[in-house]
Amino acid sequence: MSAIHLQTQIPGPKSQALMQRRQVAVPRGPYNSTPIFIEKAEGALITDVDGNTFIDFAGGIGAMNVGHANPKVAAAIAEQARRFTHACYHVTAYEPYIALAEKLNAMTPGNFAKKTMLANSGVEAVENAIKIARYATGRAGVVAFEHAFHGRTLLGMSLTSKVKPYKYGFGPMATDLYRLPYPYEYRWLHNTRPINWAEENEKIFAEFFASHVAPDKIAALIIEPVLGEGGFVPAPAAALEKMAEVCRQHGIVFIADEVQTGFCRTGKFFAVEWTNVEPDIIVMAKSIAAGLPLSAITGRAELMDAPHEGGLGGTYGGNPVACQAALATIAEMERLNLNQRALELGEYTRDYFHRFAVESPFIGEVRGIGAMNALELVQDRRSRVPYQDAAKQVQKRACQLGLVSLTAGTYSNILRTLMPLSINDEQLAEGLGIMEKAILSLADEF
Ligand SMILES: Cc1ncc(COP(=O)(O)O)c(C=O)c1O
Repeated sequence: MSAIHLQTQIPGPKSQALMQRRQVAVPRGPYNSTPIFIEKAEGALITDVDGNTFIDFAGGIGAMNVGHANPKVAAAIAEQARRFTHACYHVTAYEPYIALAEKLNAMTPGNFAKKTMLANSGVEAVENAIKIARYATGRAGVVAFEHAFHGRTLLGMSLTSKVKPYKYGFGPMATDLYRLPYPYEYRWLHNTRPINWAEENEKIFAEFFASHVAPDKIAALIIEPVLGEGGFVPAPAAALEKMAEVCRQHGIVFIADEVQTGFCRTGKFFAVEWTNVEPDIIVMAKSIAAGLPLSAITGRAELMDAPHEGGLGGTYGGNPVACQAALATIAEMERLNLNQRALELGEYTRDYFHRFAVESPFIGEVRGIGAMNALELVQDRRSRVPYQDAAKQVQKRACQLGLVSLTAGTYSNILRTLMPLSINDEQLAEGLGIMEKAILSLADEF
């Protein structure tokens, strides 16, 4: 039986009416990628205000790994909301903040003493990690990567690589930032044979330190172990391991941005666990608290303790309701073994993609790790020219057929899967079937 129920054309009349109000009341900057307004959601299904039910392959941009309206998480939120919703950690601290810090210190990779501070959003975690690294090292420089996405504040967008829509017109950017190529095999220049990523990165760093900046001026290197907004590109383990080695040699803080990759998405709690890298600092957000605004910065105790008392914080950081949501979310991830589930979903998804990729000339690459998978659309396989219009069209058509999905990539030509990991087998197959139908129908138009 289909999980999708469409009662109206998409968007329905109520969504259309809300969109008209939205156009008048809200600026266009905070964009909408679908034309529908949500009424409720459960597991991997979203019902809109017109009573249409969709399969969700977006998960609120990767925030809903545990699934919408998980009963245990909802109960934890309600229970904390009845006791108190806010007091400010800096005024009268509370146990859930400490319990969550202890949990994250224990579950993040690295067999060393760690400490955790909490904030509200992914970008705030990124900002705090950079502040801590700069304070601890007394250096200013930060290295980020091409195709990176680290958020939308001044420092976040400055670290972000994609120009439009994230940076264009918003300058001047923050200073002392440097950029290196991300180990993106499919788009690596002159790539004709398998790349030895350790050697390649060794060369890149030698050249970088000679021609851009001395290593003793660099406070931190920040990298997504799998590109998120940049197109779901897993960095080869050898590349990350070489970067971590270079950081260790030069006293540079290695920061893993696990905002999108964290909390079971790749089949591990953190994507760096697929490598031998033990990051000095890990930043987390999104699926940590099932959609409540919460982020975390976990790192080596001596680094985290470097900034003076009162140097870090904020009114809402580590809100008690969000902390309880996070504790319940992580407990559910463990109870339901969502890491194992992510592996199963991923395997099924990639097999499915590979099967229909042979039928479409527009699929340049199928890739991913765990349940973080993507199709890169190209105008033709030889030139690898990105095919943005096709990705946009597939996303739009899929929505009309009952699938909420997202694009990604510097050229917006990538389709990515961010379904809640609570999705069942039938819903997954049905959602993938819609992607297939939408992609194969491109041949009629393009
Ligand atoms: C890897 C990564 N870092 C940082 C951010 C920013 O997080 P937020 O939107 O919560 O500020 C995102 C958001 O998509 C992300 O994917």
